[in-house]
This record gives sequence, C-alpha cells and structure tokens, in this order.
Amino acid sequence: MSDQITKHLESHVKLNLFDDHFNQNPYPTFSDLRKDEPVYQTIMPDGQQAWIITRYEDAALALKEPRFVKDPENAGHEIAADSPLNPKNNILAKHMLISDPPDHRRLRSLVQQAFTPRKIEGLRGRIEEITNDLLDGMEDKDQIDLIQSLAFPLPIIVICEMLGVPKEDHDKFRRWSNRIVETVNNAERAKEVKGDIEAFVGYLRDWIDKRRQDPREDMISDLILAEQEGDKLTEQELYSLVFLLLIAGHETTVNLIGNGVLALLQHPEQKRLLQNHPELIKNAIEELLRYDGPVMFSTSRWASEDIDFIGKTISKGDLVLIALDSANRDPEHFPEPDKLDLNREPNRHLAFGKGIHFCLGAPLARLEAELAINTLLRRVPNLALACKPDALTWRPGMLMRGLDKLPVTWRRFD
Ligand code: HEM
Repeated sequence: MSDQITKHLESHVKLNLFDDHFNQNPYPTFSDLRKDEPVYQTIMPDGQQAWIITRYEDAALALKEPRFVKDPENAGHEIAADSPLNPKNNILAKHMLISDPPDHRRLRSLVQQAFTPRKIEGLRGRIEEITNDLLDGMEDKDQIDLIQSLAFPLPIIVICEMLGVPKEDHDKFRRWSNRIVETVNNAERAKEVKGDIEAFVGYLRDWIDKRRQDPREDMISDLILAEQEGDKLTEQELYSLVFLLLIAGHETTVNLIGNGVLALLQHPEQKRLLQNHPELIKNAIEELLRYDGPVMFSTSRWASEDIDFIGKTISKGDLVLIALDSANRDPEHFPEPDKLDLNREPNRHLAFGKGIHFCLGAPLARLEAELAINTLLRRVPNLALACKPDALTWRPGMLMRGLDKLPVTWRRFD
C-alpha cells in the first residue's frame, strides 16, 4: 500500500464526498476538517489522488495559485483517450473554466462585456417581469415547489433570452443541462449521460447553423461573428462556451434562490427584517451566498508541479478541490459563522471563487436573486415551509449544493 493511501486511512476525519449523509449536511464535516485536516488528502472513486482545502485563508490562496492549473494537460495529466472529458472526443470540453492563460484570457474577454454590472442592470425590468409572470401562475395553488416554479425557470429563461435560444426550446435545455451538469468533476457520470450530450450537441449544431445564415441581436450571433473572424474562437471553443454559459446559468442561481429562501424561512426574524427593510437586499444576498452557497466545491484544479502547500506536498498531477462552503463558515474569518446575519459586514465570502476564474456571471446571479427574493417576500408575506426541514433532500453530486424540492405553502396575496 502506498504511503499516501496509508496516510489517508489513518486520517481521523472521515469524509466521503459522495455519501448521501455528507450531502444532506456537509457543515459538521467541514468544521472537523478545518480543525484537524485543513488540507485533506483523499482518493476519488476513479483512483485519482485529490486534496480538499477547507480553511478560508488557504482556500483564497489556492484559488489564486497559478501553479494549480485548470487544464489537466498543463499538469501533465493524461485524460483517457476514450473519456468524454477528453476535448478530442467532446466538442463541449474546451471552455474558460478548464483553460489557463493565455487561452483563458482570450475566451473570457469575448463575453466579458455582456456581463458587466452596468449591462446586467439593463436587464432589471425584464427579470422583474419574468419573476412576476412566474409568480402569477401560482396564484390558485395552496402549496408549490419553489424550485420548479420560480428558482429553476427564472435563470433559465434569462440566460436563454440573452443567448437567443427560442422560447419553445427552453424546456429541452433545462432537461439536458440538469443531466449534463452532473458530469462536471465526474467522468463516470459523463459516460452515462452520453445520449443527452449528443442530443444537446445536435441541437446546438442546428441552432448555430441557422444563426450563421440569419444573425440576430443576441449573444450567439456575436460569438458566431467572432468565430468567423478566425483567430479569436475556434468552432469547438464556440460550442464549449455556449455550453458553459448555459450550465452556469441554469445550475447555480437556482440554488442561490432555493437555499436562500430556505435559510430565510428557517430564520423568521431575519425574514421579517428583510420584509420590513427590502433595501437590505444587496447585503442579504451576500449573506445568503456565504451561509449556504450554491457551489459547494470549486471546479477541478491540478498541480502543475510538486507544490508545498500549508505543510503538505501536493504532487504534480494531483487534483485540488476547494471547499467554498467550508471556507465561508471558517470562524477564523467570519465571527459566528453559523449564524445567518443579513447585516453582516464585512462579508468577503468566496461563493463566486476568487482570482482569474472569479464568476463571470456574478452580477447576473446577484440581480436575479435580489429580484426573485424581494418580489417573493413582498407578494407572499406569509410564505412558510410546507414540510419538516428534515424531510428536505439535497441533490446528489459534489459540485453544487441545492435542494431537490422546496415545498412552501402559499397563502395567497394577503
Ligand atoms: C449564484 C450563482 C452563481 C454562483 C454561486 C457561481 C459560482 C461560480 C464559481 C465559484 C466560479 C469559479 C469556479 C472555480 O474557480 O473553480 C464560477 C465561474 C464561472 N461562472 Fe459562475 N456562479 C453563479 C452564476 C453564474 C451565472 C448566472 C453565470 C452566467 C450565465 C456564470 C458563469 C460563470 C463562468 C463563465 C465562470 C468561469 C469563469 C472563468 O473561468 O473565468 N455563473 N462561478
């Protein structure tokens, strides 16, 4: 048995990232790890050596460390020839979140303009309208699943409209994206959902071809133009970028709205505070991002050389995962970290990451959550959980933290 595996077995904190128990409530395990094994060595189900980083200061350092690279090939890591995660087999596997400079800079700069806080602010009216339309549809019900009714459709409609996906296809995108997101950080799952990936790529091909013939005022038409100019964007990068934006736009904000509303329902005095002072919403969103953030672990990083990191040697080719939701509950950084405090300041959480891969969509996610939560609380002041908290279940998978369902009772506009 190798030294590394022995060390892993001797570790006194037990962590199984794929265990349902962990998924239901990761915070006690994160607390143990921060105390006892802040840079924790483990082995992924596929045999990959991995390190989990759980303290705030270490997480911030790791997110900015240029020797932890995003493209596994830059860490001398060979992706199996038949793996769907190998860019040679998968037209979706070449985007900025798995790229390093200079490619990363080039890819990010192509879409950065569309996501500036000013540009996104211009969408306020439309996002408010979509939110109200979604809430209108629920008026006659006594109880709803807030995930299906609001948290999920809102960000999908918004990102699809920004890209230019026709309305009648939004549902298809929702289904594909739901399944394909499970492949992030998980090559095994990628094999299982191969059919969905193929259907999604087939759709993209037709759609992109149509837009080539008939460009419109939307992001996809701008990107196609960049691709046609030759040296800015290859065809594979175009497909991958659209895929990344759709996945990021579908799978994250839903959890901010879902986890955020749950946190408020479990802290009625904080909910009341926000209802009485809706102007607190910006602070509130930051605290909800910190308290139970939508992205539990950062996406994969790889050590490009042997690196001494906080007393451990991380070997070249090892996988590094940063536990963002753990860093955001680190008592060394946040006083009373397990308390939800909508007035918390300062609040420099890591829910959107840090460094060059800092979330491109942060201004959009913030605005969507702001409008969704404030509109909801205004229109449904008596909103309450419609089940016992321990009956709630969390979606499987180690990347995201989000509820399967959030049943709420709906006492109509009183
Ligand atoms: C609350 C919602 C969201 C959260 C918590 C979130 C979180 C994150 C995090 C943690 C990263 C960095 C991952 C890493 O370094 O490994 C990231 C990157 C990214 N996010 Fe988001 N995200 C959200 C919403 C969005 C939205 C709505 C979009 C766009 C439609 C988006 C687009 C992106 C992109 C393109 C990147 C890659 C940036 C790069 O590599 O330079 N995100 N996000």
